[in-house]
Amino acid sequence: MNSTQKPIGIFDSGIGGTSIWKEIYQLLPNENTIYLSDSKNAPYGQKSTQEIIDLSIKNTEFLINKGAKIIVVACNTATTNAIQYLRTNYDIPFIGIEPAIKPASLKTKTGTVGILATKGTLNSALFEKTTSNISDEITIIEQVGEGLVELIENGKMESDEMTFLLEKYINPMLEKKCDYIVLGCTHYPYLLPQIQKITGDGIQIIDSGEAVAKQVKNVLSLQNLVNNSTNQSSNIFYINKDKSVLENILKDYKNSKIDYLDF
Ligand code: DGL
Repeated sequence: MNSTQKPIGIFDSGIGGTSIWKEIYQLLPNENTIYLSDSKNAPYGQKSTQEIIDLSIKNTEFLINKGAKIIVVACNTATTNAIQYLRTNYDIPFIGIEPAIKPASLKTKTGTVGILATKGTLNSALFEKTTSNISDEITIIEQVGEGLVELIENGKMESDEMTFLLEKYINPMLEKKCDYIVLGCTHYPYLLPQIQKITGDGIQIIDSGEAVAKQVKNVLSLQNLVNNSTNQSSNIFYINKDKSVLENILKDYKNSKIDYLDF
C-alpha cells in the first residue's frame, strides 16, 4: 500500500473521541481512518498517570500494527498524561488534544473562564504548565466532570442524572461570571445542547476539535502523507464493549464500519 493511503489512527478511552473523528472526517474526507474506543477501560480520568501511560501504549501499538501513518490521541486525559512518553518512544507523528484554555483566556471579557475536564487532565503537569502561562488577571474556575463520561458511554446523554450533574458543575461557573466555558474532554461536545440550556445565550462554549483536525492536516502535508486518492475512504471503528451507543453516534456516516474487539 502506498504510504499516503495508510489510515489515520485515532484512539480515546471511549466513544468521546468520535467528536474529533467527525472534525477530521469533515476536513479530510479522503483519508482512511481507524478508531479505537477503549470503552472497557473508560473512564481514564480517575486513573493514575502510569495507568494512563500503559493504556496509551497498548492503544498506540494496536494502531501501529494496523498500519497507521499518524496517531491522533483524541483524549485530553491521555494527551496531558502520556503524549510526551509516546513521542519519545515511538517513531510516528502524534497529534494530541488539550483544553482550549489559552484562546478562552485571550477572548474573555469578564476575565473569568470555566473549564470542565477530567481529574486526570486538570491534575496533569502539562495542564499546570499551560495555565501557568496565562495572565494572573484571568481567573480560571476548574471543575472535574465526575460521572459525565460514564453516563455518555452508557448512552445517557439526556438523562435526569446528566442534567443534575451538569447544573451542579456549570451553575457555579455562571455565578462567578464566566463568559467562556472550555470543554476539556472529547466526550463533552456531545453535551453541548444540554449545557447551552443551562447557560442560555451569551456564554461561549468552546472545545479544541476543529483545531486538532487542522493540525492533523498540517502535519500530513508537512510529511507528504496526504491521501489524494478519490476513492471513497474506509473508516473502521473498533470497540471493546457494547457497540450500540457508538452505532447511534455514527448512524449518519454510511461509510463507517464498527467491529467489536476483545481488547
Ligand atoms: N475523552 C476523554 C478525554 O478527553 C475522556 C477521559 C476519561 O475516560 O475519563 O479526556
